[in-house]
Amino acid sequence: MDALRIHGGARLTGTLAVDGSKNAALPAMAAALMSSGTVHLRDIPTLSDIGNMVKLLREIGCEVTGHGRDCTIRTTDPTQTHARYEIVRTMRASICVLGPLLAARGEARVSMPGGCAIGDRPVDLHLRGLRALGANIELDGGDIIATADRLKGTTIFLGGPFGSTVLGTANVMSAAALAEGRTVIESAACEPEVTGLADMLNAMGARITGAGTPRIEIEGVESLGDVDYTVIPDRIVAGTLAMAVAMTNGDAILTNFPHDNLLAVLDRLDIAGVHVDRVDPEEDPRRCTVRVTCDRRLQPVLYTTQPYPGFPTDLQAQMMALLCLADGNSIVTERIYPDRFLHVSELTRMGATLFRSGPTVVVQGGGQLVGAPVMAGDLRGSAALVMAGLVAKGETVVQRVYHLDRGYVRLEEQLNQLGAGIERFELGVSDPVTL
Ligand code: EPU
Repeated sequence: MDALRIHGGARLTGTLAVDGSKNAALPAMAAALMSSGTVHLRDIPTLSDIGNMVKLLREIGCEVTGHGRDCTIRTTDPTQTHARYEIVRTMRASICVLGPLLAARGEARVSMPGGCAIGDRPVDLHLRGLRALGANIELDGGDIIATADRLKGTTIFLGGPFGSTVLGTANVMSAAALAEGRTVIESAACEPEVTGLADMLNAMGARITGAGTPRIEIEGVESLGDVDYTVIPDRIVAGTLAMAVAMTNGDAILTNFPHDNLLAVLDRLDIAGVHVDRVDPEEDPRRCTVRVTCDRRLQPVLYTTQPYPGFPTDLQAQMMALLCLADGNSIVTERIYPDRFLHVSELTRMGATLFRSGPTVVVQGGGQLVGAPVMAGDLRGSAALVMAGLVAKGETVVQRVYHLDRGYVRLEEQLNQLGAGIERFELGVSDPVTL
C-alpha cells in the first residue's frame, strides 16, 4: 500500500496546469452510453476512479480505447445492462450509468451503492426522478432494476433534505434527453459539472436549456450522435493547489484554472489573505491563468458548505488545513455531509487545535503543525493531510493514499514540480512508520 513522506518547510513556486475534472468526466463517460456513434473525450484525468469507470463501461458493452488523457467510447453490445456490485462498491459514482443505460437500452440493473466514509449517501432522488419519467423501478438482491419502454417527459421536483443532488440531476437530465416530450427539472443542481454534461449532450444532439440554474428544461430527441468534448478543469483540484501554495507562503502560476467556478472559495480566500488574480483579462474566466500569492499572516474566516455556487463540501477539509495557520479562530460548518470530518482527528495528531460540535468545527489557528504519521480516511481529507504536511515541522507520513489517488493525479509529483519535498513509497501493512 502506498504512503507519502512529506518533508515540511518548502515554499511552493513555479507553474502548474490544473487537470480535467473527475466529477465532470465520470457522468460524461456514462453519457457516452446514449450515443449511437462515437464519443471522444479529452482531458480525462488518469485516476483510479476513471479506471473503474472504464472497467464498468467495458462490462456493459462498450469499447473504450484511450491514449493519454483522451478516450474514445463506442457501444458494441447493447444487450449488457448490469453494473455489478464488484465494480459499484469500488466507486459510488457508478450510479451515474443508471439514467443513460435506462434511456438508451430500456433497462438497467445497477447495484445499489452502499455507505461511504463521508456519511450516508442515499440515491432516493435519482430513483424518484427516473420514476417520474415513467420508469418502473424495483430492488432485487441489492440491485436497482429500472425498466421502461420509452421514458416520457414531465415536471420533476428534484430537491432533497440537503438541497439539490449533483449526480441525481446528471442521471435525470441525461435520461430525459432521450425521453418523449418535454421535461422540466426544478431544484436541479447548478454545479459546473452539470453544465458541462449538458454542453456535451447538446453537442450530441440533445436539446437542453437552463443547465447551471435550478430549472433545467429538456426537449427529448429520438437519438444522440457523435461528439468530441473537452472536460472542464477540476475546480476542486484548482482550489486545493491554490490553498497549498498559500499555506507555504508561496507564489505560483496555475493554468487551466476555473476561476469563475470557484468564486465562493476565492471570496473566503481573499478575506483570509490569499490572492488569486487572473493574469490575462482576455482569457475565458472558467479556464484561465492565475497567480496565487498571499499576505504574510493569514486571517481567520467563517465558511459554510453549500450547493453551488456556495462553498463546496469538497474543499472543506483543505480550507480547514489552511486555517490552522490563521491568526485567530475560524468556524467551519458542513451542510452537505454533516459527518465529513475524518480529517479532524488526524490534523489534531499534527498539533492542530480543533473543536467539533455536530456539523461545526472551530479551528483555533496560530499554532505550529508538527509532522506525524497520519491516516487518510477519504479523498479530500487526505489532500488536507498532505497540505498540513507541507508546512509541518519535520516529516509527515500519510498512509492509505489510495484515497488521494481517486481524485488527484499523482498529487505529490504536482506539488514537487512547485518545489515540495514529497516521496511516495510502499508501506507494508504491518510495517511500523518510522520518521
Ligand atoms: N442526497 C439525498 N438523496 C439522493 C442524493 C443525494 O438525500 O438521492 C443528499 C446527499 O446525502 C447529500 C446531498 O444530497 O447530503 C448532496 O449529494 P449529491 O447527490 O449532490 O452528491 P453526489 O452527486 O453523490 C457529487 C460529487 C461529490 C460531491 C457532491 C456534492 C461526484 C462523482 N461526486 O456527489 O464529490 O461531494 O456531489 O457536491 O460528482 C468528491 O469528489 O470528493 C466527492 C465526494
